[in-house]
This record gives sequence, structure tokens and C-alpha cells, in this order.
Amino acid sequence: MTVAVIGGGTMGRGIAGVALAAGLPTALVDVDAAALERARAAIERRLTRDLDAPLAAPALRALTLTTDLEAAVGGATAVVEAVPEVLELKLDVLARVAAAAPPEALLATNTSTMSVTRLAGACRDSPRVVGMHFFNPVHRMALVEVVAGRATSEATVTDAVELAAALGKDPIVVRDQPGFVTSRLGLLLGNEAMRMVDEGVASAADIDKAMRLGYRHPMGPLELADLVGLDARLNNVRNMYELSGAEPYRPPAILERLVAEGRLGKKSGAGFYTYDAEPA
Ligand code: NAI
Repeated sequence: MTVAVIGGGTMGRGIAGVALAAGLPTALVDVDAAALERARAAIERRLTRDLDAPLAAPALRALTLTTDLEAAVGGATAVVEAVPEVLELKLDVLARVAAAAPPEALLATNTSTMSVTRLAGACRDSPRVVGMHFFNPVHRMALVEVVAGRATSEATVTDAVELAAALGKDPIVVRDQPGFVTSRLGLLLGNEAMRMVDEGVASAADIDKAMRLGYRHPMGPLELADLVGLDARLNNVRNMYELSGAEPYRPPAILERLVAEGRLGKKSGAGFYTYDAEPA
């Protein structure tokens, strides 16, 4: 099996990393050559930390970095799209993937909030399109939500479940509904936590502490939003609000404000918390 991952950001490099660790030749595609170099460095760090030396070197050699999407997906058996959560962008990328990939290739999208059925429209409703929603950080989070759109075939769902397992993940299968299971629940919690900060109900640190100590969440909702990236989170809640029409998903004012100020969470050094500089 050969994997192509489109988008070498937070998620794409993580997905490429677990595919390489599983012994699969992997091409990582990005429009930004600098992003590819950052991805290479991150993958190298991760693989040399997680694999024994005799395994890390061949895994790294099996990585191809490229800006040429068509060439990367041409020989792929599975493609995972992880470009930013912007509808027009995803539709464009998926249409190109579907045109260039072998007809039998699995075409997965890592969207957090968009309709897989809608995205499959860019691929002429191919039964090979499926959602594979990974979690951040990919190497540590066991879950993959496999999302079956209206056109997705049973065989495709089975293949996606098997691919997730091959990558060391523990999948669930979900019907294509706004936010699937995880975003529908998680964004609600995050939005309420953000509104509470704005209303002065408690500090960010205490709201997070409440969910860690009171509910045994490993991480509070505001720490998690900072980790995800507040720009990515804003895209997610905007999409969820538009798709569901439900008021609790309306983007919180404080989230809009922080993103406008360039406070994007951990990756920018500040969000609901402040952070020391991270290695690129
Ligand atoms: P990101 O912004 O970190 O990375 C996206 C990458 O895609 C960037 O390197 C960008 O240069 C590249 N890109 C943009 N246009 C492209 C194109 N036309 N062709 C190839 N590459 C292109 O985004 P992130 O956070 O990795 O999110 C990607 C997807 O994963 C989104 O759909 C998001 O909703 C989803 N997701 C994100 C999670 C997170 O915690 N960040 C968790 C689960 C899903």
C-alpha cells in the first residue's frame, strides 16, 4: 500500500508520520515548500524518537515530499486530504485528487466539520470517498472517526477501518452528520468554556481545571483549543454553525477577537494561555 497525504500542516505531517511508522511508503504534498521542510523536520524528530534506529532510517527514506499533487496521488492506494477547513479549497483539492488517483484508490478527507457527502460531490460522488477524522497529536491519539457519506460504499468503509487499524488507530464508524460525534460534542464544550471566560465566570485556568479534576478530561477545553489552533477552531465552529444552524455553535466573540489579534494558540505563542517559543 502507498499513501499520499495532501497538506503538510499539523495534521498532515502527523498522518504521514504514522503511515511511515507503519511501514507504508508515503508522499506528503503541500503548496508551501517551507511547510514541507518543517514537516520533514517534525516527522524526523518523531520517528527517531518513537522507532528503533534500524526501523527509523528506512521509514524516513520511504517519505517523499512534493508540491506536485498529481504526481503524488498517481500511484497511491490511499489518499488522505488534510488541507485547511475551507470548503472551496477542499472541493478543489479533492476534485484534483479524484482526477489523478487510480480509480480504486481510497479517497479520505480529514475534515473535522464538513459534510463528507458534500465533499464527495467534487469527486462525482465516488463511492471511494470517506471521512477519516484523525486527532491531534496524531501519533498519540488512538481514535479515527470513519465517516460514511451518502455515496460511500460498504467496501470503502471497511477499507478505511482497516487502514486506520494498520496505522495503529482504533476507529469508530459514524454516519455523515454535522460534526460527526466528536466535533458535535467537543465544539459545544469549547464554545461554552470560551463564553465563560468572556463573561468572567472563572479564569481559563480554572475552567480547564474544572474539567480535568471534575470530569477526568485529560485536558481542559481551552488548553485543547490552544493546541488545535484558534484559527482552525474558528473555521470549525463557523462550519458547524452554518451546517447545523444551532445557536450554541455560533462562534464565540472572544474566539473571533483572539484570531483577529493573531493569537492563534500554542503555535503562535499565545491564545487563551501564553507559551514559550516552539521549535519550528
Ligand atoms: P494546517 O493549517 O496546520 O495545515 C494545512 C496545510 O495545508 C498547510 O501546510 C498548507 O500550506 C497546506 N495547503 C493549503 N492549500 C493546499 C493545497 N491546495 N494543496 C496542498 N496543501 C495545501 O491545518 P491542520 O490543522 O493540519 O488542519 C487540516 C485539516 O485537518 C482540516 O480539515 C482540519 O479541520 C482537520 N483537523 C485538524 C485538527 C487539529 O487539531 N488541527 C484535528 C482534526 C482534524
